[in-house]
Amino acid sequence: MPQRIAVIPGDGIGPEVASVGVRLLSRIAELRGLGLQFDWFDFGAERYLLDGTVLPDGFMDTLRRDYAAVYFGAVGDPRVPGNEHAKGILLAMRFELDLYINLRPCQLLDDRLSPLKGKGRRELDFVVVRENTEGLYTGTGGTFKKGTPDEIAQEVEINTRKGVERICEAAFAVAEANGKKRVCMTDKANVLLHGHGLWRRVFAEVAGRHPKIEARAMFVDALAMDLVRQPEAYDVIVTNNLFGDILTDLGAALTGGLGIAASGNIHPGQVSLFEPVHGSAPDIAGQGKANPLAMVLSGALMLEHLGHAAEARLLEDAVREQVAEGAHTPDLVPMLGGPASTTEQVGNELLGRIERAATQPAGASASARRSPAAS
Ligand code: NAD
Ligand code: IPM
Ligand code: MN
Repeated sequence: MPQRIAVIPGDGIGPEVASVGVRLLSRIAELRGLGLQFDWFDFGAERYLLDGTVLPDGFMDTLRRDYAAVYFGAVGDPRVPGNEHAKGILLAMRFELDLYINLRPCQLLDDRLSPLKGKGRRELDFVVVRENTEGLYTGTGGTFKKGTPDEIAQEVEINTRKGVERICEAAFAVAEANGKKRVCMTDKANVLLHGHGLWRRVFAEVAGRHPKIEARAMFVDALAMDLVRQPEAYDVIVTNNLFGDILTDLGAALTGGLGIAASGNIHPGQVSLFEPVHGSAPDIAGQGKANPLAMVLSGALMLEHLGHAAEARLLEDAVREQVAEGAHTPDLVPMLGGPASTTEQVGNELLGRIERAATQPAGASASARRSPAAS
């Protein structure tokens, strides 16, 4: 039985980077006999504007029943300014499939990509474990007297004991699976006494179950500053949905930009979703400028989730090599120098690297990152 993957390229640069990602993954699967099957779905702004579909009825059940993973591009379109379809597509899958771990590695692939003086690959290597099913993202709240001078708008942050406990456990699992020694939980417990007070208490409790890992709690403002000042002080950072969203754009900027940052939306042992951290980038869509590396690295996280760790390493190593000596898109020119190449040229070179590497013995690589799913 093949492992089935639902490909949802989405909007803007989504289809451009998804096409590179699927091409590489299909080739690796072919060369290594992995038996992956890719099924394409057209959900996104175009379909939404056409017939109002975000995801069709029963799609979540189909995913649960027939699919091992979702490989997702991006959603976001200037013609849908309220971004309703992102809620109905991406957030719906995160919530309804209960993909509670948003795993976002922030690892520098090449010293030249660092924006920080004196900080290189050794210093910039942390993972953000972002809670992905509650926090400020549930849509709980409402407006009253909308459009009047007396308008009231309320957005409620949901923090459940179960939700906080399982994401803290996941963070320690990520540390243990990767030989990391430190987990930092970050919150704003000095102001948000109720919700983030819960995070403090539960984190301390979970930390007590992992005595070999050094646990630390920090306020998020201080952490944001310190990540720029001394990123080497962090291995695994665990936090709520919104802070994780913000910190991972910072993490991306510290490690080469959004064009490289990958993520997994994971429920261990169940169908999970893999996507770049970036959005649909309408400013560069259709111009062949999109960096496909974030999508490709998200594919590596997906391979890991599917139990193909050696092939995940192969793909990561190919990307690292590509950054070190190959062609790159315009977003990397300020760091790596010119000239700029197209999305497709980078994809073609990567394919060549895969062809060469896939015929080498498996597991020859020294790099390692394991998701909680693989632990
Ligand atoms: P964005 O990530 O799309 O773009 C931010 C900047 O980074 C832009 O200048 C863009 O050109 C650049 N960029 C992003 N990805 C790149 C890549 N692969 N290669 C080169 N440059 C890249 O964020 P935004 O502009 O704030 O949002 C655009 C739309 O995408 C919005 O509708 C937003 O809601 C949506 N969005 C979706 C997701 C998602 O689907 N997961 C994530 C973030 C934003
Ligand atoms: C991300 C994005 C999403 C988020 C948006 C598009 C809903 O910014 O994946 O980081 O806020 O989670
Ligand atoms: Mn984001």
